[in-house]
Formats: sequence, C-alpha cells, structure tokens
Amino acid sequence: MSITPIGGAFDRSGRKITTASLRDQKLHREPISCLTAYDYATARLVDEAGIDMVLVGDSLAQTMLGYENTLSVTMDEMLHHVKAVRRGVKNALLIADMPYGSYQVDPKDALLNAARFVKEGGAEVVKLEGGERRADLIRRIIDAEIPVAGHIGLTPQSVNVMGGYKVQGKNLGAIEQLMRDAVALDRAGVACLFLEGIPREVATMITAEVSTPTIGIGAGPDCDGQVLVFHDLINLTFHTPAKFVRRYGDAAALITQAVQAFRADVRSQQYPSDEESYHLPKETRAAMDTVLARKRAMGR
Ligand code: KIV
Repeated sequence: MSITPIGGAFDRSGRKITTASLRDQKLHREPISCLTAYDYATARLVDEAGIDMVLVGDSLAQTMLGYENTLSVTMDEMLHHVKAVRRGVKNALLIADMPYGSYQVDPKDALLNAARFVKEGGAEVVKLEGGERRADLIRRIIDAEIPVAGHIGLTPQSVNVMGGYKVQGKNLGAIEQLMRDAVALDRAGVACLFLEGIPREVATMITAEVSTPTIGIGAGPDCDGQVLVFHDLINLTFHTPAKFVRRYGDAAALITQAVQAFRADVRSQQYPSDEESYHLPKETRAAMDTVLARKRAMGR
C-alpha cells in the first residue's frame, strides 16, 4: 500500500493531483491547468507535460465524433474515451463529463452512470452541468463516494434552452442567479467548479466567494485555474475560434503538410526507399539467386 503525499511544495514533477491537492493549489494561489483529452496518445502527452487535470469532456461529441452539438453523445461513447484516456494519464486528476440524458432524468440513473465512470472508466471525478437545482443530486453522488465537478454559466447541454451559445450573467438578475448557483454547489461539496462563458467581473466575484477551486473557460484570468478544449489549443476544430481561445499550435497545418508529403512521395515512388525496406539474409539471397539462375538456364 502507498500513501499519496498531498499538499506541501508545489513541484508538479511526478506528483499525483487529487481533489485535496487542488484545494491546496487554490489556497496557495497556484494556478490550476486543465485540458480536455479524448484518446490515449493525447492523454499521455498532456499528462507528461504536467497539466493538473484532464477532462474527458462531452465536447468530444463535436471534436472527435463530428456531431453538431454535445446532446447526442451517449454514456457508452463517453466511457469508450474515458477508458482510453485512463490508460494514458498517471498524475493528472481524471474527470469524466456526464453526457446529456445521463443525469437529468432520474437520480438513480445518475448515480449508476456516475459509478460506471469510476468503476469501468477509472475516472476520479465526474462533471455535470447546472446550478442550484443540481445541488441535491450532487450531494447524493458525493454520498456514493464519487467526487463531483460543477459547471455553470454557458452550459452547452442547455443550448436549446439558451437559444445558442451565449455569454451568461450579463444583467443583475442573471449575476445574482449565478452567485446562488456557485454558492449552492460549493455547499454541496463540489471538488471544483467550471465557469464557462461569463464576464470576468462575475467570475472574479464567484472565485472570491467560494472555497472550491474555480476553473474558467471564457471567464477571464481571475479564476483559480483555466481549461481549454485541446482541439481549440492546436487548431483542429474547423471553425473560427471563440474570443477566449488562444491557439498554441497549428496541428491542422502540420497534419496536412505531412499527409500531402506522403501522398507526393507515394506517387513519385520516393517512398519507401531501399533503406526503409526489409531484406533477405545474405545466404538466402544467394540460394535464391542460384535457383533463379538455374531456372533461367533451363528456359523456364
Ligand atoms: O466538454 C467540455 O470540453 C467542457 C469544457 C468546455 C469545460 O465541458
């Protein structure tokens, strides 16, 4: 048995991130980094780069599966990706996003689905969208020993109710509701709180008010941490990025260039070269040459 050290110095090298160490990071004002990942290779790279939290977001509906929005993705599809990411993540805290329909209908189903992410997928935290009206459900899931991440503001699973992907919390009434949502989820005991698509000023107020770490996406720089969708970070989304997205690389250009170069080499017979080919052992080659020469001499 091993006991994972938590708290203390924040040298991230090889340190396992836990829900407790996240709180320490908030307390010590050490910014928390989070990225989405949906497959083994990306998960390994993100984890080995020292990112604190890896989120298998339901955004994979769009980034990986090409759906119009996040509403269609199923529990089984999510689990398939969570399992792959689990195999690639060692130190980061692994969060699985509960897809639309997996927790809104029946609290019993919600508990069973949350447990599937832990039991079958190896997730350490589950995330679900919604404010104070989810507080009771969140308490029940936590009671079942499953840490929960909250998600308020622009909640993509409410796209049809919101009438599009719109920044939330822009008037006094909406700000008050967001504050109530944040406090209710904090009291329910969420491990962290994702704040999406809200004015910087509102995110700052929420971050100061709650004891749980806030993780912003389109919520300004004053949250306890920041999350981006991996495909936004490296330009793999095929659409104009939102205002808050900063592109740190251009995977689309890199992949296109590599694929075009491969195609050109195949067409011009530059690939594979002799050095990239397997060869017979010398003796076998000599024996084969003898057989071929004999056949030729016999006129066959
Ligand atoms: O699904 C997702 O990627 C998310 C993040 C945007 C927070 O929920």
